[in-house]
Amino acid sequence: MINGNRLLQHLHDLSQIGRNEATGGINRFSFTPEEQQAIELVTLYMKEAGMTVTVDAVGNLIGTFGEGNETIMLGSHIDTVPEGGKYDGALGVLAAIEVVQAIHEQQLSPSKKIQVVAFKDEEGTRFGFGLIGSSAMAGLLTEQQLQYTDEAGITIEEAMKEFQLSPYPLVNAQRTDIKAYLEMHIEQGKVLENEGLPVGVVTGIAAPLWLEVTVTGVSEHAGATPMPIRQDALTAASEMILAVEQMVNATTDSVATVGKLNVSPNGTNVIPGKVTFTIDLRDIDEQKISTLENAILQQLQKIAERRNVTLSSKVLQRIKPAKTDTMLQQQLAASIEKQGIQPFSLISGAGHDAMYIAEFAPIGMLFVRSKDGISHNPLEYSSDKDIVIATNIFYDTVVELAK
Ligand code: GLV
Ligand code: MN
Ligand code: MN
Repeated sequence: MINGNRLLQHLHDLSQIGRNEATGGINRFSFTPEEQQAIELVTLYMKEAGMTVTVDAVGNLIGTFGEGNETIMLGSHIDTVPEGGKYDGALGVLAAIEVVQAIHEQQLSPSKKIQVVAFKDEEGTRFGFGLIGSSAMAGLLTEQQLQYTDEAGITIEEAMKEFQLSPYPLVNAQRTDIKAYLEMHIEQGKVLENEGLPVGVVTGIAAPLWLEVTVTGVSEHAGATPMPIRQDALTAASEMILAVEQMVNATTDSVATVGKLNVSPNGTNVIPGKVTFTIDLRDIDEQKISTLENAILQQLQKIAERRNVTLSSKVLQRIKPAKTDTMLQQQLAASIEKQGIQPFSLISGAGHDAMYIAEFAPIGMLFVRSKDGISHNPLEYSSDKDIVIATNIFYDTVVELAK
């Protein structure tokens, strides 16, 4: 059994770091003082749980418990989206630490080593590029990607160095020795709530493709330029954004979001000359993402030509959808059944570090019911009761796997 009160206290205490008092939203981005403060608190929790703590080449925080030749890895992230909630990522890291602390206190001696990881920058908020820590562990982070910049022009590499990391060679962060990876996370959707169930077993993770589109027109006087001759990048971008929505509405399961827009020069009396916007496109089927990507880009090009503006696009991040391991699904289901709960399987619409770990190790994910499916929002909520039930199930699975 885990100590539910301790876990809930940790969750509360971590949620105070980077908290916007006015909104309740949490802002913890990579390589910032807020993130550093969170790292220090989580390091303390890891040590209290009996772990030795290290930081790898790209900044993944790793707690290690026990010895053994084989490693069971548990993890999630402690960074947030802008104005995020208190559970996304943080719960997975803290629940994993609680599991280890319970194992430690009960003096169980697992034959396998257990590691808990707080992955570096899962959300991609600061650099428009996420899953930095888990992609490095998979050996898929490139030197070129470390040159991506934040809005102030600071590269990922510079930010790493500012925080005393030496990322090169990137292979130093790569892992190949993981026997199994498990992640507990809030569902961030309404499926479990609709089923009336506190937990569920994830069978697959829909993956995001992130594109950045730049529309270039001509910046001119808002009063002196007649409507028919304008090359307005924002009206063109608006039509493009609606076209993306229309095209994705016509599919069964794909989703797309334009969540970020930059208008230049951004003046009330100036026709916008340049607009950049992002597209986040997701599906559980890689082929469907690729077909939709091509169709969208063709459609945007047509709109650009008709409106006499130019279009360019680049891929910010392309991740493969992942399937979870059948054996790990079965073990999680068995632990759920032991609690007298009906095992239930579902797909994750949200992305997770587990997607990259799946590139080199079997992964399993346990979802906790989310209230109203709300996430990436200060109203994100999972009940204390569900969290304790889920963490006890997670504990049981880890104990069985690490035996
Ligand atoms: C992370 O939450 C993502 O799915 O983008
Ligand atoms: Mn998230
Ligand atoms: Mn998350």
